[in-house]
Amino acid sequence: MRNTLALLLFVSATIIHAQVALIPWPRAVEWRDGAFQLTQVSLVVAPGMENGAAPLEAYLASIGALTNNNNELVRVVHVRRDTLVPAEGYMLNVAPEQVTIGARTTAGALHALRTLQQLELRDAAGALSWPSASIEDAPAIAWRGTMLDVSRHFYSVDFLKRYLDELARLKLNIFHWHLTDDQGWRVELRKYPRLTEVGAWRTGADTARYGGFYTQAEVKEVVRYAAERGIEVVPEIEFPGHCTAALAAYPYLGCRKDTLEVPTQGGVFQDVYCVGQEATWSFMQDVLDELVPLFPSAYFHIGGDEVPKDRWHACPVCQGRMAREELADEHALQAWAIKRIQRMLQAKGRHLIGWDEILEGGMDKDAVIEVWRGEEQAAKARANGNSMIRTLYFDASPAALKIADVMRFDPSGGHNDPFLMGAECPVWSERIDERNIGYMVFPRLQAFAERLWSVMPPDDLRERLKPHIARLEREGWITATSDKDLFNVAVRYDPVQATWLVTTQRGRPDIRVRFLHMDTSGVFTDSLRTFRTGRLSLAPKWRDGQLMDQRTFVIESHLGLGAKQKLSHPPDPKYGLDPVQGMSDGLLGTDDFRDGLWQGWWGKDPVITLDLGDAEEIEELSLRCLQAVSSWILLPRFVEFQYSDDGQHWRPIRGGDHDVPIEAGGQRVFDFSVKFEHPIHARYVRAILVNAGKLPAWHLGAGGDSWIFADEFVVR
Ligand code: ACM
Ligand code: ZN
Repeated sequence: MRNTLALLLFVSATIIHAQVALIPWPRAVEWRDGAFQLTQVSLVVAPGMENGAAPLEAYLASIGALTNNNNELVRVVHVRRDTLVPAEGYMLNVAPEQVTIGARTTAGALHALRTLQQLELRDAAGALSWPSASIEDAPAIAWRGTMLDVSRHFYSVDFLKRYLDELARLKLNIFHWHLTDDQGWRVELRKYPRLTEVGAWRTGADTARYGGFYTQAEVKEVVRYAAERGIEVVPEIEFPGHCTAALAAYPYLGCRKDTLEVPTQGGVFQDVYCVGQEATWSFMQDVLDELVPLFPSAYFHIGGDEVPKDRWHACPVCQGRMAREELADEHALQAWAIKRIQRMLQAKGRHLIGWDEILEGGMDKDAVIEVWRGEEQAAKARANGNSMIRTLYFDASPAALKIADVMRFDPSGGHNDPFLMGAECPVWSERIDERNIGYMVFPRLQAFAERLWSVMPPDDLRERLKPHIARLEREGWITATSDKDLFNVAVRYDPVQATWLVTTQRGRPDIRVRFLHMDTSGVFTDSLRTFRTGRLSLAPKWRDGQLMDQRTFVIESHLGLGAKQKLSHPPDPKYGLDPVQGMSDGLLGTDDFRDGLWQGWWGKDPVITLDLGDAEEIEELSLRCLQAVSSWILLPRFVEFQYSDDGQHWRPIRGGDHDVPIEAGGQRVFDFSVKFEHPIHARYVRAILVNAGKLPAWHLGAGGDSWIFADEFVVR
């Protein structure tokens, strides 16, 4: 067996069948002459292999390949049990009269079918065949998964089935279903109806209600559908953090019992389950009692990541618990809570999986650590003797995580880890939904699947991807055909021409942009110029559908428009796209601090000066700022204005301050403004923004510097 494998490896490296684009590449393959025609086929199944052969039979029937006369064996496919191949492995022998599949498990037989489907050739007359070949195959890594976050955006059951079909084609075997998070609770609980009546819905900036959830019947259906395709569904219910949606449904579960809203924005939220009170534990027991039976997997993911400790610190019940359990601090309380939930899972025969934070404060070896914060956390898990799942995050755009990066991904992190279970490519969905997820996932998932399965694939993956991409697109998936972001747009004011210039960056040449600007509309691709103010909406389109929510820019004219701008400190280039004109470009920032219109300064008191060119009569000065507490962005403590005739001698004006509390959290735009009863005359105006200082003790970034975000110095 070992010798054959070595020989076949050698052959596979030298003879590569021109037409075949297998992904992931098999362990060993030898091409032969001839082909097995897919017509008048009889299927002969060894006892015990019926489950593994059923999908093959259904497939052969679907392409009309099965004979209706099994007495006359023209061409035969044998499915045999082969106890010598590895658990998920298979042997495949295709010759003109006969195909033999040998597998030990149903999973192995399914993988053989996936390979045969990719081998399929169609001749000019439309006849199907499999090329003659001998293949020995088995995965390098056992846990080959991807995670989908269905909380930040909801994905329908129909979508999930199409998605699972794609995982199965790539021989991925784990679907990690991130079912709950701050922005939505997505699974029905009979005993707690408000989890989905309240917790599954949120109100966006445009006041539209957004959400959705899966009934328990739908969960069972997804689990069954996945299992039929050899995929295990691992559920994740976040505990004790990332639970704002649950607290919005049942405020008694939190330390402060506050009435919360299901947030629309991302971030890390302060309110977490009160683990001090028994009521929370009854709730979690009920949740596990209802959910665990829906998932046959031996594993249950409990999240455990990014848990701010300040609510526990201020909660007498949690402090009482810490005293009784002799826990030194809130980190120890977190460890205690994870261990308690682990015992509840163990009582149900399930192993706990958690993100690497569960190592905080000590964890036993039975827990599986999903490492997301890199090598340091992996080393901790390794030292502690825990099994590990490594990750490669797919929420990064194809510009930031390229195919070549995925091909270099090393699930072992360079270590010979005896406890490495495998890897996942989590797809966090803050900025992704059903319309565009294909662009983030395909074809990086093909590359990822090959990294986890194949030992020594030929280095022609880019060639082999082509037919896969073509099929995906025929089936309606958008794919990334370049290493660019799917869609970016920048708007700038051009003071020379007194127009606004909209430029796009498109990940594919077939993306078009529909615009609506007041009463004008049309379609463009690369750029658009306008000299008019008002709302400008841009909707990227692909084929007949809209690719994502439209982007809306509000353009406003004022005396400072196009004024020469001087900044005491350069803004961070990660945010504002126009450091030269951005504070006087007539473009008002949206509620998204990453929209390119907001300029950001970290821990600074920026001074913004405008030269209006001529002395003007001024009635109002106003500076637009943003507060986004969970992103460390605070309003300036106050804004002082000044004006001058010559740019040398400055006269101060009573400043603007604000009454927006930080504690309320959340996000809002605030105009610091001063109005003059008697207009002033000035050529130069200036705003001094005074930073709010260090982040408060309760903040996740406590003691760190805060950001100032500002987008426009409005002069009227
Ligand atoms: C995570 O990305 N917070 C697991
Ligand atoms: Zn508490």
